[in-house]
Amino acid sequence: MSYATLGRTGLSVSSLGYGTWGVSSAMWLGTDQDEAARSLHQAIGAGVNFIDTALSYGDGSCERLVGEVVRSAGAEVYIASKVPPIEWPEAPGMRAPEAFTADWIVECTERSLRNLGVEAIDLQQLHVWSDDWLTEGDWIEGVDRLRKDGKIRFFGISTLPHEPNNALALVRSGLVDTVQVIYNVWDQSPEDELFPAAQEAGVGIIVRVPFDEGGLTGKVTADTAFPADDWRNDYFAGHRKAQVHERAQALVGDLGIAMEALPEIALRFCLSHSAVSTVIPGMRTRAHVRSNVKAAESGRLRDSDLAILRSHRWVRNFYEDE
Ligand SMILES: NC(=O)c1ccc[n+]([C@@H]2O[C@H](COP(=O)([O-])OP(=O)(O)OC[C@H]3O[C@@H](n4cnc5c(N)ncnc54)[C@H](OP(=O)(O)O)[C@@H]3O)[C@@H](O)[C@H]2O)c1
Repeated sequence: MSYATLGRTGLSVSSLGYGTWGVSSAMWLGTDQDEAARSLHQAIGAGVNFIDTALSYGDGSCERLVGEVVRSAGAEVYIASKVPPIEWPEAPGMRAPEAFTADWIVECTERSLRNLGVEAIDLQQLHVWSDDWLTEGDWIEGVDRLRKDGKIRFFGISTLPHEPNNALALVRSGLVDTVQVIYNVWDQSPEDELFPAAQEAGVGIIVRVPFDEGGLTGKVTADTAFPADDWRNDYFAGHRKAQVHERAQALVGDLGIAMEALPEIALRFCLSHSAVSTVIPGMRTRAHVRSNVKAAESGRLRDSDLAILRSHRWVRNFYEDE
């Protein structure tokens, strides 16, 4: 496993991190909890030392599982969690105090500390962010209080889907240690402004959704059926399944590779940018851990492959209704 410094935190994090949203969430169906726990153990055994979770994943149950696994593994693992907003922003225009207040940030962090069974969270993130909030409300006082009391070591935010530029002012403000952002073969937009700004400011970049929720694994086709009530029925609604499959076929065709090799390429694409310290694919099985560890250990892609991938940029927002 290779490691990189996570911006100004100075933490040396594994290039492959672990995304746990699907591990415990009412939105992802079909998770085998025992297999998910074994997968977390296997990843830690392979050198993964960065796990991303959130208070809202399974209403605390994901944090409890992560805490248990990390304790029993006995390895040094950095845990990143997230404070949910008081209300999830449905539309632009929400003001900071409607999303995060100092007291809310402290209260949620204390719940996360209890769930995780730790004295301090290595990286606490706001689960959503808008640069409009930079000078609004008292949220920063909550972050300062937690740092002063030793309850969090570092502080970051997670950007709204496909809005990497909606954290530029924060990155330049010096208030934040890390930014978590969607970056993958299709949404390459963080390269334009966010990555250079983060590198200049020493802000660590954590990449989420490297597989476009499955679209970039090649496994989503027009005939794919997700379990009823699984949230991906909305994400891949209507013609979208056929559309991503066509795009995936075009990609592997241009690269001259088999569809089975796409997950490896998709992951290595994210790790090929020097601004990226760690990528956190969602994993629920040991088979996926094995294949993603192998991909991360294969290093950066060749420039000739990257040039081909650049021409497949396709930015859109499937998290929004059609
Ligand atoms: N707002 C936020 O802050 C936010 C939002 C979204 C995600 N996140 C974080 O980012 C993490 C990653 O995002 P994500 O899980 O939503 O999406 P993702 O990583 O793009 O995709 C996850 C999907 O990829 C599949 N997969 C993983 N490895 C594979 C492999 N080697 N071959 C084939 N398929 C593979 C998984 O399979 P299975 O279905 O079999 O598990 C799952 O269906 C989350 O777990 C979470 O920690 C944060």
